[in-house]
Amino acid sequence: MPTTTTTFSCFLFTFLITTSTMASMVGAVGVNWGTMASHPLPPHKVVKLLKSNSINKVKLFDANSDVLQALSGSNIAVTVGVPNTLLRSLNSSKKAADSWVHDNVTRYMPNGGTVTRIEYVAVGDEPFLKSYGEQFHPFLIGAAMNIQAALKKAKLDSKVKVVVPCSFDSFESGFNLSSGVNFRPDLNKTMIELLAFLDKHGSPFFVTISPFITHLQTKNISLDFSLFKETARPHNLSHKTYKNSFDLSYDTVATVLSTAGYPNMDIVVAKIGWPTDGAANASSYLAETFIKGLINHLHSNLGTPLKPHKPPLETYILSLLDEDQRSITSGNFERHWGLFTFDGQAKYHVDLGQGSKSLVNAQNVEYLSSKWCVVNNNKDLSNATASALEACANADCTALSPGGSCFNISWPSNISYAFNSYYQQHDQRAESCDFGGLGLITTVDPSMDHCRFPIEIRVSHAEFHRMCNFLRVILLVTTLLASLTV
Ligand SMILES: *[C@@H]1O[C@H](CO)[C@@H](O)[C@H](O)[C@H]1NC(C)=O
Ligand SMILES: *[C@@H]1O[C@H](CO)[C@@H](O)[C@H](O)[C@H]1NC(C)=O
Ligand SMILES: *[C@@H]1O[C@H](CO)[C@@H](O)[C@H](O)[C@H]1NC(C)=O
Ligand SMILES: *[C@@H]1O[C@H](CO)[C@@H](O)[C@H](O)[C@H]1NC(C)=O
Ligand SMILES: *[C@@H]1O[C@H](CO)[C@@H](O)[C@H](O)[C@H]1NC(C)=O
Ligand SMILES: *[C@@H]1O[C@H](CO)[C@@H](O)[C@H](O)[C@H]1NC(C)=O
Ligand SMILES: *[C@@H]1O[C@H](CO)[C@@H](O)[C@H](O)[C@H]1NC(C)=O
Ligand SMILES: *[C@@H]1O[C@H](CO)[C@@H](O)[C@H](O)[C@H]1NC(C)=O
Ligand SMILES: *[C@@H]1O[C@H](CO)[C@@H](O)[C@H](O)[C@H]1NC(C)=O
Ligand SMILES: *[C@@H]1O[C@H](CO)[C@@H](O)[C@H](O)[C@H]1NC(C)=O
Repeated sequence: MPTTTTTFSCFLFTFLITTSTMASMVGAVGVNWGTMASHPLPPHKVVKLLKSNSINKVKLFDANSDVLQALSGSNIAVTVGVPNTLLRSLNSSKKAADSWVHDNVTRYMPNGGTVTRIEYVAVGDEPFLKSYGEQFHPFLIGAAMNIQAALKKAKLDSKVKVVVPCSFDSFESGFNLSSGVNFRPDLNKTMIELLAFLDKHGSPFFVTISPFITHLQTKNISLDFSLFKETARPHNLSHKTYKNSFDLSYDTVATVLSTAGYPNMDIVVAKIGWPTDGAANASSYLAETFIKGLINHLHSNLGTPLKPHKPPLETYILSLLDEDQRSITSGNFERHWGLFTFDGQAKYHVDLGQGSKSLVNAQNVEYLSSKWCVVNNNKDLSNATASALEACANADCTALSPGGSCFNISWPSNISYAFNSYYQQHDQRAESCDFGGLGLITTVDPSMDHCRFPIEIRVSHAEFHRMCNFLRVILLVTTLLASLTV
């Protein structure tokens, strides 16, 4: 009997060693979890969603306490984010950095324990984006150093590493294949300082790689090349032949790090994904092809021409969920990066390493009532388009954009789409379906084939408003009754 147990334990041990070695060889796959949504899925449901899909790494964009609370005890490794807007104060004040670390890191790791497994603090979110100009980048190095010092003071610097997620446009002409690659000239000094800082503390280089955006911006890069298709026409760079856009971008990064004197610095792909709506070639079908291609490529352990058999240390998919309040300055597709819709339903199926071919949906999601706001066809609709545009300024009409899932629904259905989005975002309050008398509340689902008219998630603040209104009515009635009896 003991022999069997020993044999079994030994087998288990070997199995665990083998799988963990394999996992570290392949490089872990995690997800970005953003919360720029009008009605975010409650954090504890998101954590369940992560667990049921065996996703064991998440990257956050801030340090939301409900989110960190929900992650505690989950054994999911976490990257917490410092928003760009805090960089200025964190650069100029060591005290601000100490408080940030105390409030947002130390509090979740009592006595150096691991209640929440915080692995990285990401200082800024793509602070070097060209469109930001000089808004954030001058404060970056100072802020990163102050956060590092604060972690050291809190005796957490051996557990938590400071990183800086860089945008791909930190590199010059990534895809002018005829010229060499370099940091953007205006960033050269900062980047050299950043690499020295990361190297000193043994931190990896976090970078966004976006074959979707590269395809949008570079006529030369075909869709097939972006989607890891075997049949894509290859490109040459520095005497090497590239069969997909990912490798080309990755080696651009590797080349620049190497030229700067850090050929062995680990690279983490901080954001990579394919959107499913809001633009041409943004669809679930292509997103599925892309993510499957990416995962197969990572699992093949082939690496890239410059880094054979050395895939990224970690790869974070953009994104876990759709977010209806993400900025759309770079495109309407920005709100549709999710593997899952805003309410945690899988858009397609892929094996992220969970060992099953399909993703598991979020369970027991609570929605608002089955009600929609549409345009009243019996009214004079000559001003309806103006009302819809006004609604869209606040709500999310990205599905109506060219190439989007609702682009080809005809007028006035597109007006209804806009009205409904506004109505749902305002928790189905009757006055948010007015539109100068043009709105009509219906219980008949106006969704069409490809175009879904969503019903929002019930979130606690909506619950709270409703509760307050109810209490207010009770109070009013009581007061009225009291005054009558007197
Ligand atoms: C960053 O903080 C340091 C120390 O307070 C200060 O000297 C420096 O001017 C700040 N940088 C910028 C760009 O304001
Ligand atoms: C902790 O993080 C939250 C969310 O990012 C932020 O609002 C708060 O200001 C941070 N705490 C401190 C002391 O900076
Ligand atoms: C690409 O780089 C070459 C050589 O540096 C330069 O002549 C050319 O103008 C660049 N093309 C673009 C589109 O930037
Ligand atoms: C960037 O800075 C490094 C170190 O100061 C220097 O050697 C290099 O020539 C610079 N590169 C560019 C493109 O300015
Ligand atoms: C990219 O496009 C330019 C013209 O815009 C062409 O001259 C060049 O050969 C193309 N490069 C590749 C690698 O396809
Ligand atoms: C979508 O992809 C196809 C195939 O590569 C391409 O012809 C088309 O221009 C793309 N559309 C956009 C808007 O990028
Ligand atoms: C790329 O390089 C390969 C071999 O190095 C060569 O056969 C091929 O013609 C090159 N392609 C282009 C477009 O330059
Ligand atoms: C449309 O808007 C104009 C300008 O605000 C207004 O004068 C007109 O009465 C409106 N028409 C209808 C049918 O509401
Ligand atoms: C809208 O486009 C989709 C595919 O893009 C197509 O399947 C559908 O039939 C179209 N609907 C209408 C009403 O044209
Ligand atoms: C709805 O479609 C009409 C006709 O195609 C167009 O003029 C209008 O701008 C669209 N409105 C919205 C909100 O997309």
